[in-house]
Amino acid sequence: MHLLIPAAGSGKRMGADRNKLLLEVHSKPLIAWTLLAAEAANSISWIGIVSQPSDWEDFKSIIADLKLKKTIEFIAGGSTRQESVYNGLQALPETAKQVLIHDGARCLATPSLFNACSEAVLDCSGLIAAISVKDTIKIVDNNGIITSTPDRQQLWAAQTPQGFDVKLLKQCHAEGVRQGWEVTDDAALFEKCGIEVRIVPGEETNLKITTPQDLAIAEFILSHR
Ligand code: CTP
Ligand code: MG
Repeated sequence: MHLLIPAAGSGKRMGADRNKLLLEVHSKPLIAWTLLAAEAANSISWIGIVSQPSDWEDFKSIIADLKLKKTIEFIAGGSTRQESVYNGLQALPETAKQVLIHDGARCLATPSLFNACSEAVLDCSGLIAAISVKDTIKIVDNNGIITSTPDRQQLWAAQTPQGFDVKLLKQCHAEGVRQGWEVTDDAALFEKCGIEVRIVPGEETNLKITTPQDLAIAEFILSHR
């Protein structure tokens, strides 16, 4: 299975002086944990990291220290996650029929989650790892007034990996560019194109590291593994 890792953000909400993926958690840079999980997942045979060329020197030295067996391809990132994935798709080898997309910032996903997604994507057009939400979710208007309460049974929190048929995902991205759609994950492009996306059970610990608090939680989780 081919894996693309969007890692070209700047980590604004983290408030650090560099890409949050370069920050250390449990004695390794965040991106190192993501790459170690991908390395340990037997189903993954090709890894592309989509990142800003200004970060390449740092990423390359992190990768050298990890002594990974799998080689990592470098692909230049775009100004949004959507653009970064688009660039990653253009760089896939022609032999890639399916692809997993996994955020560099979800450094706690386990190898078995990668393997489960790799297997499941062979039987469907698209999938995402997701977990059912525990909180009651409210829809709120711009004045801070609740307008409705969706049925919790139907609410799932989206994670990555997300897996897709490469040909369909390329078509959906191209349609997104034509229509000017702005989305925060790839499943949303499939939904807009009317193509089925399936849920695969995600992991409670598969957080997206976004704020300094998330870093502290990740530290706790990694130190208890
Ligand atoms: N990402 C990317 N290209 C971008 C923006 C984001 O590849 N232009 C990646 C990030 O590196 C991250 C993933 O998409 O691995 C999810 O994005 P997010 O958590 O929002 O990371 P950042 O955009 O870096 O953080 P922020 O939104 O706080 O600036
Ligand atoms: Mg972002």
